[in-house]
Amino acid sequence: MFELKNIKKLYNNHLILDDVNIKVETGEIVGLIGKSGAGKTTVIRIATMLETVDSGELIIDKDSYDLTRLSEKEIRNIRLKEGFVFQNFNLFKNKTVLENVTEGLIYARNYTKDDAEKLAIEALEKVGMAHKRDEYPRNLSGGESQRVGIARSLVYNPSVFFLDEPTSALDVENKQEVINVLKSMKDNKRTVLLVTHEINLIKTIADKVCFLNNGKIIEEGKTNEVIERPKTDELKHFLNSTI
Ligand SMILES: Nc1ncnc2c1ncn2[C@@H]1O[C@H](COP(=O)(O)OP(=O)(O)OP(=O)(O)O)[C@@H](O)[C@H]1O
Ligand SMILES: [Mg+2]
Repeated sequence: MFELKNIKKLYNNHLILDDVNIKVETGEIVGLIGKSGAGKTTVIRIATMLETVDSGELIIDKDSYDLTRLSEKEIRNIRLKEGFVFQNFNLFKNKTVLENVTEGLIYARNYTKDDAEKLAIEALEKVGMAHKRDEYPRNLSGGESQRVGIARSLVYNPSVFFLDEPTSALDVENKQEVINVLKSMKDNKRTVLLVTHEINLIKTIADKVCFLNNGKIIEEGKTNEVIERPKTDELKHFLNSTI
């Protein structure tokens, strides 16, 4: 289980997140939607501790943490439980597909090369990329790169995944490959917070959805209820503008 509680975030005295609460139950996919600049990436960056907060709490599994006063040890403990995938893949260009996936296991988690490779190949098989293990990122399509990015987080078997626009940089065909991998994450009951502006992807894989507007979650609930029966003008307008 993952939860962000009472998150408040200011940039340059401007309130970006105003008491945001998001909960992802184990085995559930929660979609976070909202217009450009709403603060979705900021939520993900806070959840992965790439960004500080003005106030707020993070709960992961059974442990809760005050995000304003994290020790180095707490940050390490939280990071061990989190996986993330961003829009732009961020693969190491001078490393092969396999090395991209084993790198963290070997250098951050002290796995032997053999053990790391075994786990990496399993993860690459899950995303249909094991056959390209010796390729370099420059020889991969966008969809393939993103699937390697997903394998890189799967290999740790984290408690929760954070995906920020995982399909946005891709053309239609590449998008479909990645969506298939995301569907298998759903089938395997992964716990995921998914940011996307693609409502169809939300409808396909998210169990619940939260709509972020003006720094607050103003609608949330089961995906089909929120998407089919929006209550606020803001969400109605957002849904009309994204179809
Ligand atoms: N490092 C920063 N310093 C100052 N302002 C920032 C910073 N990062 C983000 N912002 C501002 O915070 C707001 C939210 O940005 P964020 O990137 O979280 O939006 P988003 O919902 O992810 O948008 P998009 O859909 O375009 O990705 C924006 O107004 C943005 O300009
Ligand atoms: Mg963003």
